Amino acid sequence: MQQLLTPVLGLLGIISRAGFVSAKPPGIGGGIIALNGTSVGHEQVYNGGEKKSDTAVLYLTDVYGINLTENRLLADSFGRAGYLTVAPDLFNGTPSPVDMNDPGFNITEFLATHGPNATDPLVDVAIKYLKDEVGVKKIAATGYCFGGRYAFRFVAEGKGADAAFAAHPSLLEDDEIAAIAGPLSMAAAENDSMMPPDRRNNITAQLGLTDLPYSVALYSGTSHGFGVRINTSDPQQVFGKETAFYQAVNWFDSWA
Ligand SMILES: *[C@@H]1O[C@H](CO)[C@@H](O)[C@H](O)[C@H]1NC(C)=O
Ligand SMILES: *[C@@H]1O[C@H](CO)[C@@H](O)[C@H](O)[C@H]1NC(C)=O
Ligand SMILES: *[C@@H]1O[C@H](CO)[C@@H](O)[C@H](O)[C@H]1NC(C)=O
Ligand SMILES: *[C@@H]1O[C@H](CO)[C@@H](O)[C@H](O)[C@H]1NC(C)=O
Ligand SMILES: *[C@@H]1O[C@H](CO)[C@@H](O)[C@H](O)[C@H]1NC(C)=O
Ligand SMILES: *[C@@H]1O[C@H](CO)[C@@H](O)[C@H](O)[C@H]1NC(C)=O
Ligand SMILES: *[C@@H]1O[C@H](CO)[C@@H](O)[C@H](O)[C@H]1NC(C)=O
Repeated sequence: MQQLLTPVLGLLGIISRAGFVSAKPPGIGGGIIALNGTSVGHEQVYNGGEKKSDTAVLYLTDVYGINLTENRLLADSFGRAGYLTVAPDLFNGTPSPVDMNDPGFNITEFLATHGPNATDPLVDVAIKYLKDEVGVKKIAATGYCFGGRYAFRFVAEGKGADAAFAAHPSLLEDDEIAAIAGPLSMAAAENDSMMPPDRRNNITAQLGLTDLPYSVALYSGTSHGFGVRINTSDPQQVFGKETAFYQAVNWFDSWA
């Protein structure tokens, strides 16, 4: 287990308790969500010692990982919403470069080497940390793109999460949808080649077969990734990102 805890960055991940305030939606461009600026969460090696909290947010990143400023800021935002938030390093210190067209980067190979067999154990470490070291009773998983699939995977029976939110999940498989065992909410982009309208409707129909509480929200003027990375000058994208965040917070407040 120790090798999982000493990746290149030497991190378990980000842990944020950004100062708890009300999560009441403030309208576009205000309130507890930060779209840019400096993250206040800290990185730490798995050494225990965090305070106890009943419910924690497990933040599952996109391929850009925990070093991406937007991921850190969003983890902070869940901290401000009242949840101890832990974002495990899903890539052992080597996430995708921020420019995927980087000539040295092969996304096909990257995704092949970061399948569930490689990723599940890293998520397990964070869950074990939250349950055994921090002592939380419930876990709310929030996942984005790459991490969205793992929000589904970890709200399955016995996997550790009690409720889940996923924004524009990628590579999600039907058996992973059928296996969920807790309430799940999803945010979808209007323009998403990884989840086009037919697939989105199919996923929604599959959620309807689970007999669990679920919700699916579609945000106009958004593209794949909008839950994390947006053009902060575009009002529809700002609205989409902020509302998807409050969608997750309300979901966790109600169902986790
Ligand atoms: C930061 O985000 C705000 C919206 O909250 C936007 O008005 C501003 O232009 C952004 N600043 C930068 C440097 O991106
Ligand atoms: C993390 O991101 C910062 C910029 O936000 C960059 O300067 C730094 O090199 C990155 N670190 C790693 C290990 O990628
Ligand atoms: C990317 O990786 C895949 C799988 O390893 C390989 O088949 C493909 O040729 C690689 N593409 C490039 C441009 O190197
Ligand atoms: C996971 O499986 C893929 C494909 O089956 C393989 O290429 C990769 O090496 C495996 N990774 C680990 C960590 O076992
Ligand atoms: C859809 O997303 C792709 C990839 O992000 C982008 O190139 C394209 O311009 C977008 N189209 C619209 C209509 O937003
Ligand atoms: C979803 O799509 C698959 C084919 O990709 C199909 O077998 C399945 O019946 C669809 N599920 C629902 C609930 O529509
Ligand atoms: C961001 O959005 C603004 C407002 O819609 C637009 O003028 C600008 O071109 C966009 N920037 C990028 C890089 O797409």
